[in-house]
Amino acid sequence: MDKILIRGNNSLRGSVQIRGSKNAVLPLMAGALLTEETCTLHNVPCLHDVFTMDKILTQMGVEIEFTGRFMTIRTPSNIVPYAPYDLVRKMRASFFVLGPLLARFGKAKVSLPGGCAIGTRPVDIHLKGLEKLGAKIHLENGYVIAQGKLRGAEIYLDFPSVGATENLIMASTLAEGVTKIYNPAQEPEVVDLANFLNKIGAKIRGAGTEVITIEGVKQLGGCEHTVIPDRIEAGTFIIAGIATNGDVQVNSVIPEHLATFLTKLSEAGAEIEIGKNYIRAKSPNRILKSISITTLPYPGFPTDLQAQTMALLTCAEGTSIIKETIFENRFLHAAELCRMGADIKLEGNTAIIKGVECLKGAPVMASDLRASAALIIAGLMAKEGETIISRVYHLDRGYERIEERLASLGATIQRIRED
Ligand code: EPZ
Repeated sequence: MDKILIRGNNSLRGSVQIRGSKNAVLPLMAGALLTEETCTLHNVPCLHDVFTMDKILTQMGVEIEFTGRFMTIRTPSNIVPYAPYDLVRKMRASFFVLGPLLARFGKAKVSLPGGCAIGTRPVDIHLKGLEKLGAKIHLENGYVIAQGKLRGAEIYLDFPSVGATENLIMASTLAEGVTKIYNPAQEPEVVDLANFLNKIGAKIRGAGTEVITIEGVKQLGGCEHTVIPDRIEAGTFIIAGIATNGDVQVNSVIPEHLATFLTKLSEAGAEIEIGKNYIRAKSPNRILKSISITTLPYPGFPTDLQAQTMALLTCAEGTSIIKETIFENRFLHAAELCRMGADIKLEGNTAIIKGVECLKGAPVMASDLRASAALIIAGLMAKEGETIISRVYHLDRGYERIEERLASLGATIQRIRED
């Protein structure tokens, strides 16, 4: 398993091109199951999770061409609507194929995704919504077996689950009649999915608001669609710039997708310049002020930037507070940061971060995708010593060649390949 070696204390300077969003492209790939026509995606990021979704679809019989950042997907009518455990367990987003398979083929057998490091990650909201649409669902040997003709319904989500919202939007596009989803997720990735589906002939209104209305249609066509930029990757690079007393500009982004996050960074004293499709972040000429953060569904502070922000705040003045309300176990990076000299106390879903003078390099272990990004940021911040991060396969799931792109900004960072 590869490792990442970092010698910190270099200020990052320069600009970096942000790739297409992982959390947009995965549901878009699942959405292509709804139609026999060819769907073409541009700005597809080159990530392990995209390769996994590609595998899940192609083993069903879906035809995928993926070169560079360009992907075409065609789903013939004779595919096998089945997603096996050994692939689904690697990536929870595989579960997003359930809704489209059921809508198009009237049946599906999809492995339950199981939990992961950050939480048990149940799928009860997905299944309850699909049953409201008329699906007959039963669980057998760790698989969801679903079948039935879907009919429009009024669905209220107990929690604005991103995946459940996406699964239910896709399922409703071919249901008979009108579906209304109340309390849906409003994330930009949900809106991007709705825009893609409307391009292939779906009739979806209200994505990004508190009620989404989907009028079922008989059949869907093909389209070309450009994946929105990855707001979490952009936020990660912005934090890396500020954390190293640097000056980093992220290009090809949609600044409004990061509004709450940027407001909090400004509150900490960072200098943020917002352009039409870029964001430039400069560290102040003094240590950052401590802040309090609560992660919330969009447009609140994103849980996917919580770990990276915690790393940043380890050296802010005073005491910062982070409350994680989305996942029940998303502080695994805290212990690793403490091994580098941070002073973090956990009380339930709240982390109390007391600012320290500086971090020191140490061998640390990644536990999940965003925790690994937090450890990279901490390694870049360390004033002395070397940081060696193990289990970086977590990182490669959601960041494309991040060590090369950070090195281009002036970081002393390299990947140690281990077979
Ligand atoms: C999506 O995961 C993202 N993944 C996650 O990003 C992100 O952290 C999350 O949304 C929240 O924004 C993709 O889009 C591929 P949820 P998802 O359903 O859909 C509970 C990353 O780092 N819940 O909104 O799985 C669940 O346990 C990843 O890029 C239920 O209880 O998230 C969690 O506590 C990590 N029952 C909360 O809701 C359900 O049926 C949010 O989950 C579904 C969810």
